[in-house]
Amino acid sequence: GRPKRSAIYGKIRPMSRANPGGSVAAYVRDLPKAELHLHIEGTLEPELALRLARKHGVALPYASVAELRAAYDFSDLQSFLDVYYALADVLRDEDDFYHLGLSYLQRAHEQGVVHAEIFFDPQTHTARGIAFGAVVEGLRLALTEAQRRFGMTHRLIACFLRHLSAAEASRTLDEVLEHREVIAGVGLDSSEVGHPPSKFAAVFDRARGQGLLTVAHAGEEGPPAYIHEALDLLAVRRIDHGVRCEEDPALVQRLVREQIALTVCPLSNVRLRVFDRMEHHNLKRLLEAGLRVTVNSDDPAYFGGYLLENYLAVERALGLTRAQLATLARNSIAGSFLATDATRRWIREIDARADEGLHDAQWNNYVV
Ligand code: ADE
Ligand code: ZN
Repeated sequence: GRPKRSAIYGKIRPMSRANPGGSVAAYVRDLPKAELHLHIEGTLEPELALRLARKHGVALPYASVAELRAAYDFSDLQSFLDVYYALADVLRDEDDFYHLGLSYLQRAHEQGVVHAEIFFDPQTHTARGIAFGAVVEGLRLALTEAQRRFGMTHRLIACFLRHLSAAEASRTLDEVLEHREVIAGVGLDSSEVGHPPSKFAAVFDRARGQGLLTVAHAGEEGPPAYIHEALDLLAVRRIDHGVRCEEDPALVQRLVREQIALTVCPLSNVRLRVFDRMEHHNLKRLLEAGLRVTVNSDDPAYFGGYLLENYLAVERALGLTRAQLATLARNSIAGSFLATDATRRWIREIDARADEGLHDAQWNNYVV
């Protein structure tokens, strides 16, 4: 078991090949990790938002960084989305999206993210008259720059806003298909309750028919039935959030059997009151039930931390072992859309860095 936190915490850990007795923060940072649930609009830090508001002459209802941060006291998903969509109004040209993207990628790289699968919300921008092409080109330039500078790989995923109609999603898919070489897949986000996956079955059919990968937010605020629908009607390859699966034991069994990755976002879940405090988060139970749980940051500028902070928050609150932290990193790679050879290479690298205590042979059979 994991030793209780104490004055000598860190010195009583079993020997590790990579990080003997080192801090848990350095250990997690140095594990190669994929980030699979990250809305690029959710990386808009208050400082950049105010700078872009000045650049474009946009009048925001917030005068200072302090006033802005004070608005981040959310009561649920919708109260967050209201602020998130309002602030996105400062993102106007290709250069804005390039800066937004590269700032995130730089930060992710410093935290040991080797592969990033990034969401963006085209409709949030096209509805304001911003060209789809400007958004995609700014993000593409940032992603290729991060690949060149840091060796980071990526996938770009366009999400449909589920509070809008299926017809509007279908028109958005037409634009996605015009940028087929840059966009790897489509997802589904925004206000969940009342907007079940079934509403978008035809759009997702068409997307898959064009070879796009598919994911969907389900079981964040919505019921387990939405997770079933996402799997059965949208044929998604993984579930974003999915934490409410626990209310349906047969669904949990299915997710374990099919090794469907859940992209869990711990700090988001607490800030949006899916769980009232981190100590009550179900991540550790889901992990120990054999689910392919991953840790992600969702909208880090709004929820108080990037990927490393999310890992450390659950480690601290739930008492994860170093072996479990390595499992989360392996799951992120295995749950990604990386090709099999890259997946195997990263998993071997995690094996070499992982501190599994005296029982490390168990990981030689990790299924990719
Ligand atoms: N858009 C950005 N973050 C989201 C979340 N956590 N759930 C639904 N839509 C989102
Ligand atoms: Zn999300």
